[in-house]
Order: sequence, then C-alpha cells, then structure tokens
Amino acid sequence: MTEPLIALDHVSMVFKARRGGVKAVDDVSLSLEAGEVLCLVGESGSGKTTTGKIVAGLLKPTSGSVRFRGQDIWQMDKARFKAYRRAVQIVHQDPYASLNPIHTVFTILATPLQRHGMVRGRAEAVRRVLELLETVDLTPPESFLFKYPHQLSGGQRQRVSIARALTVNPELIVADEATSMVDVSIRVSLLNTLQRLRDELGVGFLFITHDLAIAKYFAWHGRVAVMYLGRVVEFSPTPALINDPQHPYTRALLAAIPEPDPDLTRRKGKLQLRSLDIPSLLHIPPGCSFHPRCPLFEAGLCDVQRPDLVPIDEKRLVACHVVARERTGTIAKHAASPVGISSDPVIGADLGEYGKESS
Ligand SMILES: Nc1ncnc2c1ncn2[C@@H]1O[C@H](COP(=O)(O)OP(=O)(O)OP(=O)(O)O)[C@@H](O)[C@H]1O
Ligand code: SF4
Ligand SMILES: [Mg+2]
Repeated sequence: MTEPLIALDHVSMVFKARRGGVKAVDDVSLSLEAGEVLCLVGESGSGKTTTGKIVAGLLKPTSGSVRFRGQDIWQMDKARFKAYRRAVQIVHQDPYASLNPIHTVFTILATPLQRHGMVRGRAEAVRRVLELLETVDLTPPESFLFKYPHQLSGGQRQRVSIARALTVNPELIVADEATSMVDVSIRVSLLNTLQRLRDELGVGFLFITHDLAIAKYFAWHGRVAVMYLGRVVEFSPTPALINDPQHPYTRALLAAIPEPDPDLTRRKGKLQLRSLDIPSLLHIPPGCSFHPRCPLFEAGLCDVQRPDLVPIDEKRLVACHVVARERTGTIAKHAASPVGISSDPVIGADLGEYGKESS
C-alpha cells in the first residue's frame, strides 16, 4: 500500500494558559493523498488553524504523530524536514499581515526562488515571477512586478501570497481561510484560481473554512472533516455531507448558512440547538462535548460517554452515539482508523454499556 502524502495519527495539541491547559486539538487522525482536497470546517476556536499549522510542520503536537510519505516529520533529519516544509506550504487568512510591506512583488516572489536555487540570475527570476503572476491570474503580470503590497487590493495581495506558496512547487497547500477577508465578488474568482491550480498543477489542498457553502463550492469532489472543540465529529465525501448531514453539529452548521443556496437551504431549520454558547476549551463538557447544545441529547449517555469517530458506512465517519446507533445498531464507542485511511467496519459497543464512564 502506498503511504498517504500526509497522515496525522491521534494528534493532540495542548497550549499552556494561565488557567490551565487549552486542548486546541484533541486526538485528531486524518490523512491526505497527493492531489486531494480535504476541507476542515468548524466554528471559531474549533482547532482548524492549529491543525493546519501541525500539518504544515509549523507546530509540533503535544502527542501523536505527523507522517509525510510515511516518515515521522519530527524524526526527520534537517535535509528531509526542509524538503517536507517546502512540499507543504501555508496561505494565511490575512494577506496584509503575511506580505512584507517594504518589499515589491518581485522581491517577495524572487527571494524564495533564489534561496531554494530554483532560478539562476535576475533574468530567469523575472521570467519565473512573471509566469507565477500569470498562474494566479494577476495580468498583465508586468504591471504588478514592482508594486508594493499597499498598492494592491486585498484579492490581489492574496493572489501574491498564493504565488509565493507556488514558488517552491508545493505538493500540498494549507489554505487557512484564504478567501474569507476578500469581498464576496472577488472570493469566487479567487476560489476559481485555486481550483485551477488544483486541476492543472495537481496541488492538493487542506482547505480551512468556517463556511460550509465555501467547502461545498471548493471541495465538491473532495472530503470534509467537521471539527468541534478540537475534535473531528464528522468526516465524509462532500456531496454526502451536504446532501445528508449526519452529526447534529453538521446539521446545525448547514442550518446557519445565510446565503440563498437552494441545495443547502432545503435542509435548513430542522434542528434547534439547545444553546448557542460555545463551551470554553478550559471547561470541556464531559461525555460528548456537544451535549449542552445538542437537540438529540440523551441524558445518561451523551453526558457520560465520549463518542469516538466510527464508520457509519463505507466512506463516512461520525462521532455521535445516537447517529451510530441508528445507522449501525451500536453506539460510537470504538476508535476508528485514521480519517481517510480505509478501515474495516467497526463493531461498536453494546447498548448495555450505556452509562459507564468512557475509558
Ligand atoms: N498559541 C496559542 N496559545 C494559546 N492558545 C492558543 C494558541 N493558538 C490557539 N490557541 C487556542 O486554541 C483554540 C483553537 O484555536 P484555532 O486558532 O486553532 O481555532 P480555529 O478553528 O482556527 O478558529 P478561527 O475560526 O477563529 O480561526 C482557541 O481557543 C485558541 O484561543
Ligand atoms: S453523542 Fe449525543 S450529544 Fe453528542 S452529538 Fe450525538 S446525540 Fe448529540
Ligand atoms: Mg483559524
């Protein structure tokens, strides 16, 4: 079996805070094949950016492993780690903060090209920078070459950030809310550019967004992992997630989409949350962390046993006792294989286990 491009295995990340540890990522397992698109979706504070930084090698997890083509990145020698860091590039939400204001577009793009020995001499650097600007739809490219970031619009700046990520020919781009700070009209054309990179250059994406409508648009042929309070609660091919959401939190996210998307609105308004408040990561509710808000909450089960992410069919994983019981006849007790890696059908816990403390 070929190894996935990236695999996180039982990864957790605890940040030290004054009032204790903040578990931003809690036992997340997922994998990405080369050229694949995986969306991470969830509310603010659900651990999306932290997961993205772990995938990009910018944060070392507190526990669990991160493998690149089967090799633990934190066990790699310097040269291999450098190659991995080149292969996985991150594009941040805020292009104002991520571009150096005192450098021209040419310097911003030529510096990594020269540093990594990808061009020889200025003429070749200019040629390659012009090519990159065209790739990200900044045309005519000559007119952008010697502009400074403040002379560009938000959308243009984000395109420069994407071009910078492309300078080192990455295999995976972690796009962290990369389109959320630009106007809606520009967002669509930016998403189209990213889609083209995916299709023409074969670049894979870990696409982070709080907006399921964007996940639907960008990753229709990919998969979505829905995060809640640091955990993946549903993982599914995108069409199945949109057309037939399973986890009550996913259903609530779909219901919260304000835009008039007929596919999405059709499934709206079915679930009324018991509370709109997101619990603090310093006081994560026992059992299922979604239970204080969940309309399907069952006392004695959901507030006692933590549901694991278990398969409910060949391609979907859900961390919910009630959904697992409806779909498989058992509650979500046993841990599944890492997300994205095919797993044998899971045999859940006996219903007689209700009420016992989760191990
Ligand atoms: N360096 C850090 N130190 C302490 N806490 C942190 C740190 N980075 C993130 N956190 C906390 O971890 C939690 C998850 O943060 P993260 O940025 O991963 O969430 P997110 O899903 O990306 O949210 P958003 O949609 O707002 O970007 C938050 O409560 C955040 O405050
Ligand atoms: S386990 Fe219970 S509380 Fe959690 S999502 Fe499922 S029904 Fe809701
Ligand atoms: Mg974030």
